[in-house]
Amino acid sequence: MQINFSFVLKYSAAVAAILFMNACLPSPNPDPGSSVEPESGANTSVDFGKTKGGESTEIYTLKNKNGLIVKVATYGATLVELHLPDKDGNFVDVLNGFDDVSGYEGEDNQYFGCTTGRVCNRIAKGKFTLDGKEYTLATNNDPNHLHGGEGKALSKQVWKAESATDAQAVTFSITTPDGEEGYPGNLSIKVTYTLTDENELRIDYEATTDKATPVNLTNHAYFNLAGSGSGTVLDHELTLNADKYTPTDDTLIPTGKIESVEGTPREFRTSRGIGEGIPDKEATKTEDCKTAPKGYDHNFVLNGNAGEQRLAARLKDPKSGRVMEIYTDQPGIQFYSGNFLKGQKGKGGKVYPFRGAICLETQHFPDSVNHDNFPNTILKPGETYKTTTVHKFSAQ
Ligand code: GLA
Repeated sequence: MQINFSFVLKYSAAVAAILFMNACLPSPNPDPGSSVEPESGANTSVDFGKTKGGESTEIYTLKNKNGLIVKVATYGATLVELHLPDKDGNFVDVLNGFDDVSGYEGEDNQYFGCTTGRVCNRIAKGKFTLDGKEYTLATNNDPNHLHGGEGKALSKQVWKAESATDAQAVTFSITTPDGEEGYPGNLSIKVTYTLTDENELRIDYEATTDKATPVNLTNHAYFNLAGSGSGTVLDHELTLNADKYTPTDDTLIPTGKIESVEGTPREFRTSRGIGEGIPDKEATKTEDCKTAPKGYDHNFVLNGNAGEQRLAARLKDPKSGRVMEIYTDQPGIQFYSGNFLKGQKGKGGKVYPFRGAICLETQHFPDSVNHDNFPNTILKPGETYKTTTVHKFSAQ
């Protein structure tokens, strides 16, 4: 009899992985504060309210066999809730957000959980030149363009939802027309959220255009692994797989340089408390963080080859033991330490304080369209923009 060793090896590895995962994740103990019934069917949509303009919005629930729950809304293709167990199996929601669409439309929403674009982060002075033509965009973050612009940014539109038959995935789609928010080309986008039984939240992005246009899509979730609204994240431990970062000017526009993190507060190559790198925790500007008022707001250049999935970040809440690893094919990640959070109220009246959550936005570098030495963000007709980011959860 012939033994297929590669099959035996793969099978043993799979069994070991399942045993390891079960050891890492205790049996579910549902979040008592949650309105979600973990036993009920997944991928059902419910009303999330009407926008100011009278459009209906829905929220979809995904659930895996370990009791993890994800809720995503059609408004902004937004990640609204994420319920994760701690090391004793207690579930909490770890995301900043609001109870219905009106909160997401209000001024307390700082891009919570949304799909950000068509170009995430900043474009200097809202200007770029493509194929000899100058384009002017909204300068909604004076003096720069931020996260795709104003009323018609992708985060502020209602997307169309299609739920998959396996009940653990939802695809949102939208076409943003030529000229919307000042960008060229009709751009058709799909974003798929998948919750796997391996405790991964996978986000797949796809886009095509009929004219050359810059595209840089990300998700803007605010994580607090101790539970959203439970204080600051300064004790969270972070590792970033990045030797370099892109320094910025005072308006958070990259200077174009790519510098080493060595010997700077941006040194996260081995796990470190977020608060340790912010010398004066209450300062609004510090010597070490002078290009990031109030804390971290930097694009890190990920090690390894862009285009290939690799570890980008690992975040751990030492008290609850909750861990999130982020894998991506993107060249960069924006580490933002919630510096503009202002104690606004969100889901169920929870308060989101200054530095009360962390964003880890996988991306091409900010303002790439104005820097020839940064990886290209121009999508051309006939090409397909494709990128995947995976968030893997465990508890230790
Ligand atoms: C990003 C930016 C920050 C800030 C937030 C939204 O993470 O890098 O400067 O604009 O979005 O408040």
